[in-house]
Amino acid sequence: MTGLNDPKNRLIFALDVPGVGEAVSFVKQLDDCIGLFKVGLELFIKEGPSVLTAIREHSDAEIFLDLKLHDIPATVERAVISAQKYNVRFLTVHCAGGEAMLKAAVKGAGDSGLQILGVTVLTSMNTEHLTKEMGFREGMTVNELIVTYARQAQEAGCSGVICSGQEVELVKAVGGSDLITVVPGIRPADNAVSNDDQKRAMTPREAIQAGADYLVVGRPISDPPDPKAAAQRIVQEISEALAHAK
Ligand code: C5P
Repeated sequence: MTGLNDPKNRLIFALDVPGVGEAVSFVKQLDDCIGLFKVGLELFIKEGPSVLTAIREHSDAEIFLDLKLHDIPATVERAVISAQKYNVRFLTVHCAGGEAMLKAAVKGAGDSGLQILGVTVLTSMNTEHLTKEMGFREGMTVNELIVTYARQAQEAGCSGVICSGQEVELVKAVGGSDLITVVPGIRPADNAVSNDDQKRAMTPREAIQAGADYLVVGRPISDPPDPKAAAQRIVQEISEALAHAK
């Protein structure tokens, strides 16, 4: 099976660990049940680009560099040009940076093969956060903001967006099936993550049934005593959900 027909290729593991040693240990354990490894701010700031080389030494899986860039367009464009040399598949920018910034990111990627994903609204936020903490007008909902951001990301030429499972149908309605949806905030039905900060969570099955292209999973795989078994259960659930959707 190739591409998204292989359920494992839809699973992105968030390497939210403090150093290259822990990252490589997860990569070795999970290599055959993960499609992409996501390197975020904690790991990249600590280890720099050498962590990408270390991951590649132990896996053929693709890499998703989740730097969530947000700056003036010229700076973002140059940052993305710099990122081209890492040969990663996905790089994130915040949709909140506006359409000119998103366009600059896409321009920076050029035809290098690097795909830009727009972060819509963090899955740790809900409607109350938008109005009470972020200054959005009273009555503004997460869904309204997601529609605006998804439209902007698509018009700017982004390959896809990050959104919660609850918003996948909305994003696909706005951007069409070609706009890739990458969905964090995934919690299996037997979720054991303590002090969970994800507010708009969904099970792997629900997210796939809603039309998610990729699932980002961190703690539900890294926290259990047997991460590989946890990842395999999620791949199995993705597989069943895909079979059901056909
Ligand atoms: O451990 P957990 O499964 O909650 O990890 C989710 C991952 O997805 C984290 O690396 C987090 O940074 C990322 N993410 C998110 N919400 C977004 C974008 C990315 O949780 N909107």
